[in-house]
Amino acid sequence: MYKNELSPEDLLRIIFDYTAKIASERKLNEVLVLMANMGREMILSDRCTVWLIDLPNHELYTTVAHGVDEIRIPYGTGFVGSAIISGEPIIIDDAYGDPRHNSENDRKTGYHTKSIITVPFRNNDGEIIGAYQAINKLTAIGHFTAMDLDLLSLAASYAGKSLESVMLHQEIIDTQREIISAMGEIGEIRSKETGNHVRRVAEYSYILALGLGLGTSQAELLRTASPMHDIGKVAIPDAVLNKPGKLTAEEYDLIKSHTDIGHHLLRGSRRELLRTASIVAEQHHEKWDGSGYPLGRKGEEIHIFGRITAVADVFDALSAERVYKAAWPLEKIESLFRKERGHHFDPAVVDVFFAELPKLLKVRQQLTD
Ligand code: C2E
Ligand code: SIN
Ligand code: SIN
Ligand code: FE
Ligand code: FE
Repeated sequence: MYKNELSPEDLLRIIFDYTAKIASERKLNEVLVLMANMGREMILSDRCTVWLIDLPNHELYTTVAHGVDEIRIPYGTGFVGSAIISGEPIIIDDAYGDPRHNSENDRKTGYHTKSIITVPFRNNDGEIIGAYQAINKLTAIGHFTAMDLDLLSLAASYAGKSLESVMLHQEIIDTQREIISAMGEIGEIRSKETGNHVRRVAEYSYILALGLGLGTSQAELLRTASPMHDIGKVAIPDAVLNKPGKLTAEEYDLIKSHTDIGHHLLRGSRRELLRTASIVAEQHHEKWDGSGYPLGRKGEEIHIFGRITAVADVFDALSAERVYKAAWPLEKIESLFRKERGHHFDPAVVDVFFAELPKLLKVRQQLTD
């Protein structure tokens, strides 16, 4: 029934195994789960959770089992809440003898909470950012000891630092996304299009990329980068960009330069996201048969992100009213894509376009102007 105490060798192995895994993990949810499993194995508890503080919402939250379910409780409630507020660990031998215990969960789940240990942890600036909580000791002694407190404190000091670096990494990614999206909107405001054009192109590109089998991380990369496809339009004069009627050949040449301009604006970066945006800005007007611009590339010489964004962009341009054209009805759009399959557009992307059309239309409807 009961588990035996761990040998020092077992303990070291657990610590080494988990710290190696945690050091190479960048997803916050995954780190939370790894940290929790590490704590559970180190002190032989039945359950273990890593809680984090969500200050703006005045809550504590945690992720259980592979990031699927998130649990939230009001800030300051339960043993975790007390430990976080006081900054002191708590060890309880029998939860039912303590007024802070909330037996509601036990009643709902049929689980019986007995012993509890909670250890708060801090970031590199010494601020408390969360707490470890383990429930029910599995050895014969049946409650947590001073040794468990030492071990969980060790895990907690490691957790504080790992979690902070993962959160900072996430912060950088989020910041890049926001900047890119804001830059995309600048291009769009200039050409009098609504805030939703770049968002729709992003979502269409994402659906098409997944439909082509590109994998989630590539599809997400494209979704984040594609709002920048027309950033080069910031350099095109209003009088041309927003001219109500037909363009002269010179004016059209000027507009076509938005691809080269966008490419040059972005290509200096070593950041993957900006390099991807640079490719999309350059290649979204290339055509499968080689008649596009600026490079006149053909077939698979055109980057797959360019071939996808071309379909997404034209679908959106035709769906919407522009200063120079009315919105097209769906049948007319569909017949253009059928006609241009293998000419303007990559046939494989057009096939996915038709296969995924219901999803695309749903996005179009959700993000209307
Ligand atoms: P946009 O308005 O976002 O259009 C993107 C692409 O959608 C166009 O690339 C074209 O491939 C397709 N598209 C848009 N409207 C139509 C249409 O009425 N018929 C057909 N068959 N395809 C259409 P394109 O042609 O390289 O144009 C690039 C950009 O140049 C356009 O972006 C727009 O900003 C500007 N532009 C193109 N034609 C005109 C025009 O006659 N007047 C003005 N003011 N701007 C134009
Ligand atoms: C908590 O108080 O932190 C939840 C655990 C419990 O009370 O059973
Ligand atoms: C924009 O400036 O993003 C709108 C032009 C387009 O649909 O490609
Ligand atoms: Fe464009
Ligand atoms: Fe566009």
